[in-house]
Order: sequence, then structure tokens, then C-alpha cells
Amino acid sequence: MPSAPPIKAARGVRDILPAERAAWRWVEEAARATARNYGYQEIETPILEQVELIERVGEDTDAAGKELFRVQPMGGQRLALRPEATVGVVRAYFEGALHQHPQPVRLFFTGAMFRHDAPQKLRYRQFYQFDVEAIGDASPALDAEVIEVAWEWLASVGLARVRLLLNSIGDSVCRPAYLEALRAYYRPLRDQLCPQCRDRIETNPLRLLDCKEDGCQALKAGAPRSIDHLCEPCARHFEEVRRLLDRAGIEYSLDPFLVRGLDYYTRTVFELQHESLGGAQNALGGGGRYDGLAAAINWQDTPGVGFAGGIDRVVHVLREEGQEVVSAPAAELIVLTEPNGGEDLAGPAAELARIARAVVPTAVDYSGRSLRAQMRAAGKADAHWVAIINADEAAARRARLRDMPAHEQREVTWEELAGLLANAGT
Ligand code: HAM
Repeated sequence: MPSAPPIKAARGVRDILPAERAAWRWVEEAARATARNYGYQEIETPILEQVELIERVGEDTDAAGKELFRVQPMGGQRLALRPEATVGVVRAYFEGALHQHPQPVRLFFTGAMFRHDAPQKLRYRQFYQFDVEAIGDASPALDAEVIEVAWEWLASVGLARVRLLLNSIGDSVCRPAYLEALRAYYRPLRDQLCPQCRDRIETNPLRLLDCKEDGCQALKAGAPRSIDHLCEPCARHFEEVRRLLDRAGIEYSLDPFLVRGLDYYTRTVFELQHESLGGAQNALGGGGRYDGLAAAINWQDTPGVGFAGGIDRVVHVLREEGQEVVSAPAAELIVLTEPNGGEDLAGPAAELARIARAVVPTAVDYSGRSLRAQMRAAGKADAHWVAIINADEAAARRARLRDMPAHEQREVTWEELAGLLANAGT
């Protein structure tokens, strides 16, 4: 044994091992199928973006500020690992000239995001999102559509007990007066707030509503509500979103203090929570409208609305709900070799595997262990079939094909193997 400790994964990141990967695939494939079903097209943006771009998400946004993973290449641009997808997708929409296509442009993707927060259960430094964006149209129908995509995704994954919280935080016309009302409410309560909230009274009072500290939470109840300060167009927009959600049969609760952790939102904001996720990490996903974001990254003023779901958390809740997604065995057929006199059967075994692989995923046991040990390993690996050859059988292009669950074995020629497997329907 080496004397130094074994090297482990970095703090806050983790491996998705094969046993868990099946559930991931299930959740990701449900995401893809749902998005495609609503006419969304897949996009991929780089993990690396210019710091300058990400900072425009909001100067008081943790994910784009203190939690940002900065990458310091020698000279050149200041880069960072993306903490979220929206700003990169909006950038790509313009750089890829998608704004010249018929609008709105509906996009989705799944991928890794990075936030340098204190790691804890369900809060990772590398995590995965299913992201959906509808860009280039200000209609409230798209807000409702994006919410429906999120809702349908979770339903198709098989999650029950999902709660949708909805709010409107107004726009650049009505929000300034609301922020002033918040400041007026909080200024006399300054001493009862946590240090960060004290600092935010003047700079970003909206975020006081999002503080998880008990003291700040308690004061929230009496705070002014954004929905009471909406201008006429924002109020109409919100009413329409609600009407469309009602028509779609999607239940929601109005949460007048839902503001979200990213600063680019205008009008509709929403979050999907699951009751089994307690504490601060209870959101399965969230999103909203971001009509000012395109202009904030110096492209032409363009409305957009989107959603991102946390794949790690959805997989976790699936497991909590006892929904086992069974992982496929590594191989459905394993070729075993029985060297009677020390012959090298690797070549014939690989050839037989190539034949079987036309029908089922097939692996070869090259270990040279006893046949018993190979059989035991194949059983443990959950292989449905084993095909055994010794030197004589290899020469005659024959094999013993064993149906493991049925405990049945028969002699077959290599030529008939594929047909037999296909007829067995595995
Ligand atoms: P977000 O609320 O920051 O929104 O993240 C969306 C979801 O990602 C969260 O609800 C949560 O499930 C998951 N998530 C966030 N941080 C972590 C973490 N550290 N570990 C595990 N899961 C996490 C956005 O990112 C926006 N871009 C959503 C959006 C799209 N808005 C408009 N378009």
C-alpha cells in the first residue's frame, strides 16, 4: 500500500456511478422527450464563459458573484465555469443569429453547472440542470407554456407531490416604487435583520424576502407585496398567465414573497418544490421571465422566459419516493471460455461476441479463471445469457448457450446464435 492517502474527488463534487446512472438517464430522457414534445430544440453552450457575461446576471447574485468558479488562464480573457444556463443561451441566440429566425425560439439543454457554495446535502458545486428557454416573444402564453413544460417533465418522470409557487415581481416601470416601499418597511427594522440583509436594504431590498435566516423570515410576513404594486400591463400579464395555468389544469399557490436568487427576472417568477425536500434546498426547479437580460449583455432588447430544473434533486426525490429505476446489466450475454489445455481462446471468444452483439449487448470474460468462477461472476453481473466455448467448440464453431434465469442450456452453432437470441426477444 502506498503511504500517502488515496486521492479523492474534490469537495462538493461527486461521481454518478452506474447504479445511479439509470435513474439519471430516465430523468434526462424524460426532459428531452418533454421539451421536444413542446417544440423545443436542443442547444449546447460552452461550460466556459467570459466572466463579464456571467456578471451581468446581476451584481448581487451569489451564483455570479461570490460563488463563481473563476478560471485564470495565463493572460487573455477572464473566464468562469457557468453557474447557470440562461445567460449563455441568450448570448448564443444572438451570436448564432437565432434572433433572425421566426420568433419565439424555443431551446433546451441538459448539462453541468458550477457554484462554489458551501457544499451540503443536495447542494453541490457541480450539479446538473435541465434548462428550457423561449426567447423573442413577450406573450404571457409563453410563461404558462414554460411552466407547463416543467410540470409535464416532473409528471412524466413519475413525481407526485410537486408544488408550484407563483409570483410576479413587476418590471422596470413598476418595480422602483415597490422597492422603495420595501425599503420604507425594512429601514425601521434594520437592527433585527441579519448583516447581509442590512446591507441589502438600500442596494437590493427584493432579496431580503429570500433570506433563509429565521429572524429575517419572521419579518417578511408584514412586508409589502409586489403583486399589490404592479403597473397595469404587468398586472394584466400576470392575470393572463394565471388564467392559462388554470385552463391547463396546473395547480399553483400564489407566493407574494417568491423572488428567486438571480437578479434578471421581470414579471413572472415561479418555483417547483417537493415536500420531501426540507430546508433551504427544497426547490426542484424554478424560472421566470427575463425581459431585460438581452439588453444587459449588450444585445438588442429582447424578451425571454425560461426554467431550469435540478436533475440531482429530481433523481434524489425519485429515490426518496421509492421509485427504483432498475439499471440495465452491463451485458446481457457474456462469453465464457473453458481452456482445456491452455489454448488462447481470446480470438474465437471475441468473434463469437461480435456475432451476439448484433442482437444483445455482449461482453467477454477474458480472466482465464475456472468456468465455475466465470459462471458465478456472470450471475452476479445479471447477464441473461452465457455462451461457453472450449477449444474443440471454437474449432467447430459451436457453443453452449445458457439461459441463466431459466437454468437451461443447449448446444448451438455460431451461425444460429443471433437468430436464437433475436427470437428469445431479450
Ligand atoms: P436556479 O433557481 O438558480 O435557476 O436553479 C434552478 C435549479 O437548479 C434549482 O431549483 C435547483 O433544483 C438546482 N440547483 C441550483 N443550485 C444547485 C446546487 N448547488 N446543487 C444542486 N442543485 C442546484 C436558474 O439557474 C435559472 N437559470 C433558471 C431559469 C432559466 N430562469 C430562466 N430561465
